[in-house]
Formats: sequence, structure tokens, C-alpha cells
Amino acid sequence: MGVTTETRSIDWRDGAVVAVDQRALPGDYRLMRLATVDEVIGAIRTLAVRGAPAIGAAGAFGVALAARAHPADEPAVRAAAERLAGARPTAVNLRWGVERALRRLPEGADAVLREALAVLAEDEATTKAAARHAAELVRSMCGRRPLRLLTHCNTGRLATVAWGTALGAIRELAATGHVAEVLAGETRPLLQGARLTVWELAEAGIPHRLCVDAAGPAALAAGMVDCVLVGADRVAANGDVANKIGTYGLAVAAARHRVPFVVVATESTRDGSIGSGRDIAIEERAAEEVTGYAGRDVAPAGTRAFNPAFDVTPYELITAIVTENAVLEIP
Ligand code: MRU
Repeated sequence: MGVTTETRSIDWRDGAVVAVDQRALPGDYRLMRLATVDEVIGAIRTLAVRGAPAIGAAGAFGVALAARAHPADEPAVRAAAERLAGARPTAVNLRWGVERALRRLPEGADAVLREALAVLAEDEATTKAAARHAAELVRSMCGRRPLRLLTHCNTGRLATVAWGTALGAIRELAATGHVAEVLAGETRPLLQGARLTVWELAEAGIPHRLCVDAAGPAALAAGMVDCVLVGADRVAANGDVANKIGTYGLAVAAARHRVPFVVVATESTRDGSIGSGRDIAIEERAAEEVTGYAGRDVAPAGTRAFNPAFDVTPYELITAIVTENAVLEIP
């Protein structure tokens, strides 16, 4: 299998999902082939495939795999779809991708696959459009000059199909000479910032420094940041945003120091059925992610942990939420 950094983070080839194994980066850029529903679920749960739009596409392909495996057994496909949608609870894109593909099931397995391929193709276009709108908003708020930006987790081409949301906006700003430096938060405990965002920034030639998560609010307090740009896993009807743990603290500090805090997401991340962030299910992950590091224990044996993968930022702390369609009105 030809491995190139130009490959989409997730794609469909010869009857299977082919995706970048994000666990192996930055040391190893390798593709994995996922040919069964269980393999797709495993990849989502272990964050081999991660980021809201990327898991939405994976979910849609998972349904396509189920439909091909059980061409005459609709209940089996629906059961597989439910397992896929439940693989991770917070990013609404996963259920959105699964349900979108599942709606085509009455037309047969080929129609399901066509829908999953449409999800894939649309993601590149929608993240590019959202990123372009966000970049223009940032230029208009912060000035057409090289800006010092802060971002969290990984919202780039790895987290989507090919471009990125918040990191896509940073790519756009860099292309027009409007990035002085990006501060990338490392994003404990799985280090999506250190491993993935820094890898993408280096690949794109965008000036950057890595900081521990706790340094983000300190950088805001020290006047080192012109704008914070983050992605989202679910946007509630009132504009509350669930995103990677640590986002809320950055938003509080940004509001305290009057620095614009911009969320970039696709429409597929909006969940109009949820009134406010209070009702968003927050994934809690294994204690070992916190009590150990790189396969070694760092805390005393038996230590219990609190390990939420996401937090909720209330709309009052957000300057703007930008999608491919609009800058959303925040109450
Ligand atoms: O647990 P992860 O790595 O899947 O969390 C990802 C994030 O929180 C991203 O910020 C979000 O999915 C937006 S990706 C464009």
C-alpha cells in the first residue's frame, strides 16, 4: 500500500476503510485497513481514528461494511449501526454519519456505500469552507497582521477527512501571511496536540511552539495570544460547545483577558436536539491514560483517576462559532 502524507486521513479502497493510524504518529505514518465493523469500532475506541468529522466518516463506512456483510439481514445491519454509533458518546458526528448511511439501507448495500462516500467527499469541502469563514472573521477581529494563535487538541486534516476546522483556519491564515506563531497545547492525556497538531504544523511549515496545557491560560494572561481557535465535538442548540478536555479552562482565561475565542466546526457537529451543554454525554476514559505514560505507571499502583475526554464551554465564553454555512448567532 503506497504511504504518502498526501493520503486522506480516511478513505475507502477495495472494499475496506483505509485510515491513518493516529496512534503511531508522529513516529510512524502508517495506514491501516479496516474490513469489519468490529475493526472500525476498535479503531474509533482506541483513537486510531479520532476527531469528530473523521469518526463521522468512519461510522458511515462501518454501516456500509455491515450492509455488505449482511445483504439480506436488515436487523443485523441496524444492530451493527447502533454499536458503531455508541463507540464514542460525545462527538455527535459519529451518530450523524451512521444514521445518514443507514437511511439508505432500504435501497441496498451499494446505496449505503454511496452515501458514506458522499460524507467523505463533503467533509473536505465543508471543513475548507468553515476554515475560510473563520480565517476571515479572525482577520476582521484581530487585524490583517501576523497573529499569535493558540489552539488545543488536533483539529487538522487528521481529525477530519483532509483539511481541518480550527487548524484549517490556521492553515488559511498562514497562507495569507497572518500567522506569527501558533502555540499548541499538548492535550493531556493522549497528547493529540503534541503528537498530531505539531506534526501537521511542521508539515505545513507554520511557525509553532508546543506548551503544556497549563501554560495556555498563562500565555493568555501574559498577553502572548491574539486569538484562540478550537474545534468542537458537539454544539448544543444554545451554543454551548463540547470539545477536548481543557477547552473550558482556555475559554475562561480568554474571556478574563479579553482575547477572542473562536470555535470552528462543521454543521454536522451541531445538535439541535440538545438544548444546552448540560445534556451532552461526556465520555470518561480509562484511568490508565492518566495514571501511566507510554506504557509505564507514573502514579502509585491502584490510584483512581478522573479522566473525562471532553468538557463543555458555555456560550457566554465564546466569541463566535463558525461553520461552513455561517457565523452562528450566539445568544
Ligand atoms: O478525543 P479526540 O481526539 O477525538 O477529540 C477531538 C477533539 O476534541 C477535537 O477538537 C474535535 O473533535 C474537533 S476535530 C475537527
